Amino acid sequence: MSMRIFLPRDAGAIAVGADDVAVALERAASQRGVAIDVVRTGSRGLYWLEPMVEAATPQGRVAFGPLTPADVPAVLEAVITDGPHPLRLGITEEIPWLKRQTRLTFARCGVVDPRSVEDYRAHQGFKGLERALELTPEAIIADVTASGLRGRGGAGFPTGIKWKTVAQASADRKYIVCNADEGDSGTFADRMLMEGDPFVVIEGMTIAAIAVGAAKGYIYIRSEYPHAVAAMNAAVQAARRAGYLGERIGGSRHSFDLEIRVGAGAYVCGEETSMLESIEGRRGIVRAKPPLPAHKGLFGQPTVINNLLSFATIPFILAGGAKAYAEFGMGRSRGTMAIQLAGNIRYGGLFETAFGVTLGELVDDIGGGTFTGRPVRAVQVGGPLGAYFPRALFDTPFDYEAFAARDGLIGHGGIVVFDDSVDMARQARFAMEFCAIESCGKCTPCRIGSTRGVETIDRIRAGDRVAENIAVVEDLCHTMKFGSLCALGGFTPYPVMSALRHFREDFGPAPTRLQAAE
Ligand SMILES: Cc1cc2nc3c(=O)[nH]c(=O)nc-3n(C[C@H](O)[C@H](O)[C@H](O)COP(=O)(O)O)c2cc1C
Ligand code: SF4
Repeated sequence: MSMRIFLPRDAGAIAVGADDVAVALERAASQRGVAIDVVRTGSRGLYWLEPMVEAATPQGRVAFGPLTPADVPAVLEAVITDGPHPLRLGITEEIPWLKRQTRLTFARCGVVDPRSVEDYRAHQGFKGLERALELTPEAIIADVTASGLRGRGGAGFPTGIKWKTVAQASADRKYIVCNADEGDSGTFADRMLMEGDPFVVIEGMTIAAIAVGAAKGYIYIRSEYPHAVAAMNAAVQAARRAGYLGERIGGSRHSFDLEIRVGAGAYVCGEETSMLESIEGRRGIVRAKPPLPAHKGLFGQPTVINNLLSFATIPFILAGGAKAYAEFGMGRSRGTMAIQLAGNIRYGGLFETAFGVTLGELVDDIGGGTFTGRPVRAVQVGGPLGAYFPRALFDTPFDYEAFAARDGLIGHGGIVVFDDSVDMARQARFAMEFCAIESCGKCTPCRIGSTRGVETIDRIRAGDRVAENIAVVEDLCHTMKFGSLCALGGFTPYPVMSALRHFREDFGPAPTRLQAAE
């Protein structure tokens, strides 16, 4: 019998050499005269250990990493003889960083073969769909509502309420749209799931379709994710072949099918109405609301738009129970959040845990501080529109309301860490510049305000009438916050104002603080 070895095909693992390790494994096995079966999985999300291989043993999977092709012969020997090796990490599930997590949405990621419907089924796959097929649409929506699930795309809107609105809309056709544009800086959870557990996305969307009465769905994926696009396309075809997509799903009276659409690379195309424009074949320009997409969305029909993580959480809720999900978390933030640790951080990766963990625990303890070893000075939470938090706010729990109370947002769960060499006026400028570049141009506060913002911050950094120009930036931020049509212009003030509020000493002639520190 051949020995099973698991190695990620995840883009993050490939970027650090996983494909070369795969080739080396095959070569080493044939030289050693052993038969191996290399299963290309998703990543477990411990990115500093990639490429990480796991070998199936009677005790469970044993992990080794990070590997180079040169390490492979000795690692294979250690697997065969159960011998020691400096890169041996022990039983994967026992690695403390993984063991500390509560993996509900990511339970299968890095475990299953993402191309195999059978493997998905063997790991509790389609259990949520099976249960949904036994329920009325109202009962499905009642479960989703009771779970307390809030949209993971950024706004945190209750998913059950959104579905109910679409279910109650009367129309001949309705649509399900999965937002996998994942434009936020420091985020990769959607990608990981598409590459590591794509059937969970399909299952979640199918349950949504049954709940609201939709027969067609789209997954909108950013063009920068070619591996995810390939994985999702392969999964859709496999699901179709297995009768999980198409006519009469699982022998039921429901029909549902999916198409993948690839974006052309604009941050604003993650905004739901601009994404609809893009799917319909137009330029990604934000639509005014109302009407809400739930009433008049794709092709003018009622549409459920959810982030990929929101859909991927649905199967657990249906199979494991709304109550089991809602038991995790704090306040109105129920369940778990897929937190993505990125930037200048020692242990970067995907950490799924119940809401309530503090920012300090995430950055200092779980993340291990900075990669450079210098002190952490700032973290940006929630993507390019999220606020910068100083150490003084590290007691903030990961919770929608707690972050909002401190003028921040948790967004899609991305945390980007900066050490003490960061120039926060430069970061504020970057926020304005990002908005200027990515603005869809529909409304004036965003289109013009962001450009004026860049110019004014440049003046501040040049030491030109600093106090007056800071007042201009504050005034601009106020106009953008309250006058913009969507959150791109409306939230750009968050990083800018937080930088001003918490790191005021950086706003002056550019190198002042850094020179003082040297
Ligand atoms: C500029 C901008 C970019 C956005 N980008 C994304 C994105 O990449 N992915 C996403 O799911 N939501 C994104 N959103 C939020 C979506 O508009 C929408 O709220 C979300 O897809 C709804 O799904 P949810 O309720 O499951 O969060 C963005 C919003 C704005 C204003
Ligand atoms: S805020 Fe910016 S991105 Fe949003 S509609 Fe206005 S111009 Fe477009």
